[in-house]
Amino acid sequence: ISKIGVLTSGGDAPGMNAAIRGVTRYAIEKGLAVEGIIRGYEGLLRHETITLDRRTVGGIIHRGGTILRTARCLEFMEKDVQKEAADYLRSLEIDALVVIGGDGSMRGAQALSHCGIPTMVIPGTIDNDMMGTQYTIGFDTTVNTVLESINKIRDTASSHERVAVIEVMGRNAGFIALYAGMASGAEAVLVPEHEVNLPRLCEHLAESHRIGKLSSIVVVAEGAAKGTDVVDYIKEHTYLEPNLTVLGYVQRGGAPSALDATMAGLYAQKAIDSLLAGTYNCVIGLIGRRIAATPYSEAPHFHFPISDNMYQLVHMLGR
Ligand code: F6P
Repeated sequence: ISKIGVLTSGGDAPGMNAAIRGVTRYAIEKGLAVEGIIRGYEGLLRHETITLDRRTVGGIIHRGGTILRTARCLEFMEKDVQKEAADYLRSLEIDALVVIGGDGSMRGAQALSHCGIPTMVIPGTIDNDMMGTQYTIGFDTTVNTVLESINKIRDTASSHERVAVIEVMGRNAGFIALYAGMASGAEAVLVPEHEVNLPRLCEHLAESHRIGKLSSIVVVAEGAAKGTDVVDYIKEHTYLEPNLTVLGYVQRGGAPSALDATMAGLYAQKAIDSLLAGTYNCVIGLIGRRIAATPYSEAPHFHFPISDNMYQLVHMLGR
């Protein structure tokens, strides 16, 4: 191969820029030309690209978001649209496409590979919910952002003796809630992977209050329950004073943590090395202590759910 394309797609995640930089500079180092596609798969349909060189990706390793911009392109689910995008890539003489994004982006990459374009996915999503990897770029930064926010909210919760309910992102996965809950010493976390039992939550909170706990933190994953419903339920069924913070997009922004910027570079290297070795249609990921390139078809065998132990432990340690 002599020329690759790179795009970011789906929700932005801290570390995506570091991955763009890593892909571009490592590919150039190996003698390849690099074309950036603007706004994800949409850019393939609108024909928006930019040639990347070492300098275009300078000064971005520490920046949140993605300089290539991103989109959720629903149109791309259609077969003729995918074919059109593949033809456009061929017209640009792009031999392989590196996609930085989450599982929706991986489905898009897979579709392009069915149209004859070699693809490679670098996992970039705050949700940490992708098959074929135990780690997605952005997750660590987000957990730290959530932790910082919870620590601030706790000051008010404890001063006013309140129950702080904090709703966090994560789509259908509870990784963000669980890790932020663990690190902040939350009293309870609600995650989609476990049954949401609000009566039990209320008992748990009331019991803690009885034994002298003046305030509590409850982290709710958006995929488990709506924060407003949790607050309403606690209000109705206990004498406690709950209030809600929905963290929202603050979780997706900001400079990547050391871990995210580092993983971005390592994943980028693996993606390019694999392409150069003739291995493609894979998702790059951390499996155990190794960075692997796993074919899309095998990725479901490498599915890493949240830890049951950690879920139990948060509740044991939280009161
Ligand atoms: O996938 C990342 C994520 O932030 C999820 O946690 C969340 O459910 C979703 O994206 C929100 O999507 P949007 O960018 O459309 O608001």
